[in-house]
Amino acid sequence: MRATGLRAMHRAVASMTLHSGTPSGARGQRCVRSAASAAAAPATENAPKPIYLKDYAKPQYAFAKVDLDFALGEASTAVKSTIRVEPQSANAGDLFLHGDESVELVQIMVDGGAFTSYKRSPKGITLSGLPQSAFELVIETRIKPQENTALEGLYKSGKNFCTQCEAEGFRRITFYQDRPDVMSIFTTKITADKAKYPVLLSNGNLIDSGDAGDGKHFTVWEDPWAKPAYLFALVAGELGMIEDKFTTMTGKNVTLRIFVEEHNLDKCEHAMTSLIKSMKWDEDVFGLEYDLELFNIVAVDDFNMGAMENKSLNIFNSRLVLATPESATDADYAAIEGVVAHEYFHNYTGNRVTCRDWFQLSLKEGLTVYRDQEFSADMNSRGVKRIGDVARLRMSQFPQDNGPMAHPIRPESYIKMDNFYTVTIYEKGAEVVRMYETLLGKDGFRKGMDLYFERHDGQAVTTEDFFNAMCDANGADLSSFKPWYSQAGTPNVTVDGSYDAAAKTFTLKCSQNVPKTPGQDTKIPVMCPIAVGLVGPDGKDMELTMDGASHGTTAVLRFDQAEATYTFTGVAAKPVPSILRNFSAPVKLTTNLTEDDLVFLMANDSDAFNRWEAGQTLLRGLCLNLIKSGEPFTMPASITDAMRKILSGAKAPDADKAFIARAMMVPGEGELSEFLEQGTVDPAAVYAARKFVMTTLATELRADLEATVAANSAAKYSNEPADRAARTLKNACIGYLSYLDAPEIAAMTYERFAAADNMTDKISCLSALSGKDCPERVTALDEFYAAWKHDPLVMNKWLGIQSGSSLPNNIANVKALMKSSAFDIKNPNKVYSLIGGLCGSSVNFHAADGSGYEFLADVVIQLDDLNGQVASRMVSAFTRWKKYEPTRSAAMKAQLERILAKPGLSENVFEIVSKSLD
Ligand code: BES
Ligand code: ZN
Repeated sequence: MRATGLRAMHRAVASMTLHSGTPSGARGQRCVRSAASAAAAPATENAPKPIYLKDYAKPQYAFAKVDLDFALGEASTAVKSTIRVEPQSANAGDLFLHGDESVELVQIMVDGGAFTSYKRSPKGITLSGLPQSAFELVIETRIKPQENTALEGLYKSGKNFCTQCEAEGFRRITFYQDRPDVMSIFTTKITADKAKYPVLLSNGNLIDSGDAGDGKHFTVWEDPWAKPAYLFALVAGELGMIEDKFTTMTGKNVTLRIFVEEHNLDKCEHAMTSLIKSMKWDEDVFGLEYDLELFNIVAVDDFNMGAMENKSLNIFNSRLVLATPESATDADYAAIEGVVAHEYFHNYTGNRVTCRDWFQLSLKEGLTVYRDQEFSADMNSRGVKRIGDVARLRMSQFPQDNGPMAHPIRPESYIKMDNFYTVTIYEKGAEVVRMYETLLGKDGFRKGMDLYFERHDGQAVTTEDFFNAMCDANGADLSSFKPWYSQAGTPNVTVDGSYDAAAKTFTLKCSQNVPKTPGQDTKIPVMCPIAVGLVGPDGKDMELTMDGASHGTTAVLRFDQAEATYTFTGVAAKPVPSILRNFSAPVKLTTNLTEDDLVFLMANDSDAFNRWEAGQTLLRGLCLNLIKSGEPFTMPASITDAMRKILSGAKAPDADKAFIARAMMVPGEGELSEFLEQGTVDPAAVYAARKFVMTTLATELRADLEATVAANSAAKYSNEPADRAARTLKNACIGYLSYLDAPEIAAMTYERFAAADNMTDKISCLSALSGKDCPERVTALDEFYAAWKHDPLVMNKWLGIQSGSSLPNNIANVKALMKSSAFDIKNPNKVYSLIGGLCGSSVNFHAADGSGYEFLADVVIQLDDLNGQVASRMVSAFTRWKKYEPTRSAAMKAQLERILAKPGLSENVFEIVSKSLD
């Protein structure tokens, strides 16, 4: 995928992260993945079995208190768990404890005596004949973190121990009721070699520490807040630390610490600043105050996801902590700010109020994504943030909702929970939360949040509880809103406007339908808040009146029928309607706006999102016409003029340059292919059409682009918002210019690469060169390697840029890179960068001879034995195979079948592959 500098930059980051429709999906920051829908019929008798929401049953035993005792060793680790168990009724029956096959059971004791009345099965143990009143259960296990390549449970990253327990990793440590509705008070003792592991951390407060003899030492941590096991964390290692403090709104002092390897201590300042801003914002906006005296963040290099909100001991993928201007891009800085905030915000939305079961995941993730989006909007440009979030939703979530993995934000079943950390749960979930705000207003939303905490603090609850709090706090009836939780699929909404000059009315005729998705053949209409404005001939918003009531300049239509009509009165002159302002509902919108209307809105709409959207609608229409027409490509002058106008806006003194950079972007190939008919997509044709548009615009606007580059080239790096925006715009222009086949452009790009004093500029130039078969590309890559080979995070960018290149026959290059010292298949970031980067290339992943598909399948098969989560994220690049033209779809299908036939296939990969083939 060749792209503007801006887009390419995003890709470089995205491929190191998470997971969307394709592993290299254009997500700047999150690692959320593809997923699964209604249960696939198991292929064989012993195929993994789905878990159903309808089977939920309350736990029969409460765990009032848990004492964990870890003896960390080089060969293995001994874990002793002492649990205060409280039966919830007189005949509570058997007690099932989850436990992975890798856990060695040493012994079980009940009230001090050996206990043998248990049965072990592949997923855990069942204890029977237990006392009918409260008792003490002791379980001793032995585990081997050194051999744990799945990076779930307790494992080693480099020389250090760390944990990842969400969703179901705790069962790889000990036998436990590993379900979020079992909340307990944890105390953790850690004993380890003092020289190798000077730092020993767990959740809560340090209550004891000392020498343990034999060169060992210990710490004891107590977390006073009851929590599910998925929020447990432990870290042991040799780590440096930076410290700061935060004084809360009631004057309490909180110590803030970030732990990293000693040589990275100079790269933590931005994460610390982001944390402090987040704490303040949550107080100011939601009245939520931190609830302990200590908050720790630890960065580790080997981490499946982006970051994890363990109570008071957040663990982060190091790429979301470490940053200096020289080594991290502006996009990295923004991602760090957002993710630090996200994990911090979970302290209330996730930890204090948690999920009853994993089907409720969006309760915490959708809500917390909404909160981090709002935080980032307040810290930066609100309009640009919203545009980026919607672009991501469309690029990754809409395709998921339209494919074999479509599922509602509250799914009905899953095989492997890891597969359900999806863009649907996260991003569509956040849109659903945002719609409450749109419907109830900012104050109404806050009232709902307050009631939610008042009712449910300390509980494990459901999305229904959240819905009820929002309704009850506002006396609102939102019953037609509920299908957002249970129905998959992106609603199609059509809005046609018409002006009646005689009556001075403007009427909007709306209709909606929700498409069928796997397992859901019938759908009902759902409440879509549609924010509309009417822009008068003078370019100004009109005051709106409907049914005699005034609506200011933006009305929110509560559209919850299959069809409805809304009429504004007193409309003095023919307006252009601005529909779905700020993207007020996650729907696919069709309107009867003309090209002239769109050009008018691009110039005049007071809503930044719709100003951008008008241009995107024009560009999308153009690209789709080119792809579908079969005629030689031509470029309408109207589009070139519109783009020239956008670019010239950069000269205005108050120009929002980051917005302009966004407005210049031509919709990506993934987004475009979603509009083409199933079974017809030819990635080469989509690539060619988009390339034509980029190249033509670059040719015709060359002088303007070059002038913009010159006008926005700062002599020296600065991290001020205006400088960041100028950098974004400049690099977007360099990305455009790279489409020109002109040696002087390559030379200019290389010069800028060599002179760049910050990673944003370096990467943008490198990326602009990466698709060009020119000597500068090779020189720049070599110089970059020489300068940064010591820094694994920067090397990930280097890997991703090369694998994402659209130079033909790049697979051989990727294979060679897999053997280089910069790569390590056990490190998720490296896989996401190198392999994920390749999956973003129409030219090479989708090579007509199927070589890209075969290569990916080889990698998935290799990864499957090491790390099921990473393997299933990678295999997701195949899930939309049916949308491609026959040759490619057959080739992709064949690879899916080959993967399915692998003996001992992980449940993670099985679920994605079997549902894709279904
Ligand atoms: N709770 C998740 C981390 C997680 C996800 C753990 C899946 C285990 C399985 C965390 O809060 C999260 O959502 N992290 C995101 C980043 C965030 C900004 C959306 C991630 O890791 O990508
Ligand atoms: Zn989260």
